[in-house]
Amino acid sequence: MDKCIYLDNSATTPVAAEVLEAMTPYFCEAYGNASSLHASGREARQAIEKGRAEIAAILGVSPSEIVFTSGATEANNLAIIGMAFAHQEKRHIITSKIEHHAVLYPCQWLESQGYEVTTLDVDKTGRIDLEQLKDAIRKDTLLVSIMAGNNETGTLQPVEEIGAICRERGVAFHTDAVQAYGKIQLPTDSIDLLSVSAHKLHGPKGVGFLMVRKGISLTPLLHGGGHEGGRRSGTENTPGIVGLAAASSLAFNKMEETTARMRRLKRRLIDAINAIPGTRLNGHETGSLPHIVNVSFQGIEGESLVMKLDEHGIETSTGSACSSPTLEPSHVLLAIGVPISMAHGSLRISTGRQTTCEEIDAFLDVLPRVVEELRAISPFKVGE
Ligand SMILES: Cc1ncc(COP(=O)(O)O)c(C=O)c1O
Repeated sequence: MDKCIYLDNSATTPVAAEVLEAMTPYFCEAYGNASSLHASGREARQAIEKGRAEIAAILGVSPSEIVFTSGATEANNLAIIGMAFAHQEKRHIITSKIEHHAVLYPCQWLESQGYEVTTLDVDKTGRIDLEQLKDAIRKDTLLVSIMAGNNETGTLQPVEEIGAICRERGVAFHTDAVQAYGKIQLPTDSIDLLSVSAHKLHGPKGVGFLMVRKGISLTPLLHGGGHEGGRRSGTENTPGIVGLAAASSLAFNKMEETTARMRRLKRRLIDAINAIPGTRLNGHETGSLPHIVNVSFQGIEGESLVMKLDEHGIETSTGSACSSPTLEPSHVLLAIGVPISMAHGSLRISTGRQTTCEEIDAFLDVLPRVVEELRAISPFKVGE
């Protein structure tokens, strides 16, 4: 494949060279099962516990509060369903309309099992209303699950304030921090459960973790050998965990510098896109993650735009990667009040640590031409 301009880093990121290097010995050399007593088993165990300690130190929690999983879908399911099953005396959960399906669907499944779920609205930038959250909390509310930063628009939630409200009312607080981890400082002290996925931060696919604050009990979803302190059975993915820890360290060590650079690229993107007639920026312009820009173009289909850009070797997305093939307008964009026609014309551009200024310039050179070409063959006219 020719080198493309990859601007779909919210979907996944390339594995960093340092991460691959850290993982490599754990495939064919130190391949032991971390539960085995012999030398190669002990070596694998040591690597896993080193990784756990590194991640715990980044978050300022204790290593026993980190549970490794197969990714964030599993971490979110473990947080939500695991909490619900462990505390069946309380059967009410609060979440929001703009959550990832890996949060919304476990909540919907719990509803089918007799739990009650309140789904909070968001304003036109995608932020929840703290007063609405306070009003929604009831005596039988067990859990609030609100994401830290949105995967489609980048909009950040007031995580610290949400955590304070939950703590005051004795409700556990889970946040899906997949897009925010490694991009911004998270107020870990305010959070009881936090989900992360390695492949969004230049780590490998198929590995992540759930931070579970001490004292929070969860019913495991996977039963077996009692790994991860009995909270998640299954032979540990040693290379994956080593990669996740290496990716975390890299992201946090370089966070300020990378975030500042990404913010500059984002500014450049927004200014140039705003100059194209018939566009609309979706999400919060400043209270948002540094790597995501979401924009709608009047009169064209997002899918056609993604395909046309792909022909030019530029990879972008219409929304979240997992829901792209459905051609349904994004639930996130609809929740923030984007009209259906504009929601269909949305494009998500997401940068990574490897994205250069030259790549953004090359993209911005192609984009207005492609938009014009598509509008020329569209039955809808801009301004109609
Ligand atoms: C916000 C958010 N939550 C959860 C997930 C799912 O993560 P994973 O791919 O590790 O299952 C994603 C990935 O698209 C995401 O962006």
